[in-house]
Amino acid sequence: MHPMLNIGIRAAHAAGDNIVRYVDRIEGLEIDSKSRNDFVSEVDKQAEAIIIDHIRKAYPDHGILAEESGKHGNDTYQWIIDPLDGTTNFLHGFPQFAVSIGLLHKGVFDQAIVYDPLRQELFTASKGGGANLNNRRIRVSKQKELEGALIGTGFPYGDMDNLDNYLESFRKLCPVTAGIRRSGSAALDLAYVACGRLDGFWEYNLKKWDIAAGALLILESGGILSDIDKSDNYMSSGNIVAGNTRISTQLLDVLHS
Ligand code: IPD
Ligand code: CA
Ligand code: CA
Repeated sequence: MHPMLNIGIRAAHAAGDNIVRYVDRIEGLEIDSKSRNDFVSEVDKQAEAIIIDHIRKAYPDHGILAEESGKHGNDTYQWIIDPLDGTTNFLHGFPQFAVSIGLLHKGVFDQAIVYDPLRQELFTASKGGGANLNNRRIRVSKQKELEGALIGTGFPYGDMDNLDNYLESFRKLCPVTAGIRRSGSAALDLAYVACGRLDGFWEYNLKKWDIAAGALLILESGGILSDIDKSDNYMSSGNIVAGNTRISTQLLDVLHS
């Protein structure tokens, strides 16, 4: 195993264990809202501190981009961290959230960890080395057509600028797919595309820390990602379509029609 992946896994496990300790104590938590419907709790902050501590001890010269504490250090190697993806779910006791840690080397996806601490599902990938779920190789689904496909997404919840786009996408996709799911954790949605539980995914306005790990999982499991505008800019725009090649292409066609 790549040593940097190993450090990322240890960090994700430690953060995930800490998150799980609070599952039955949500009522007493200190919760702030960063903007409308965008919450952060002391659990998010503790998880982030645990991850950064692991990385700093192993790789003091690596850069970090973390959701709650921002950007630190240089970015030859940059760890992109979402300490708790699915905070709203977590705060409601809705059991769908994860730790997401991606490593970029010179701007290229290098290592990926998405850890679901409740199910103890660990999704990992190393560039060129394939993607795994709990050490077993995963592949994107073989679904060929949107008809019969299960598609993940995320609805707007704070900024409603894209609401009309969403409603339009729903109108087009509901009749032609087997179903649409909004799980509340984009990192897990991408991991589920990587292992074939979802056939495809689209969402607007994601952040780098929602995407960095999940993107490499999908690429290493034979899938593709694209910006909704069909460019490669999904990391900076946050507007993303993913799936196997056929489903991604058909999703893009529908979203553009
Ligand atoms: C959120 C989740 C959600 C997605 C939001 C993200 P957070 O992350 O991934 O599924 O729809 O756009 O912000 O805030 O829980 O880390
Ligand atoms: Ca997130
Ligand atoms: Ca988060």
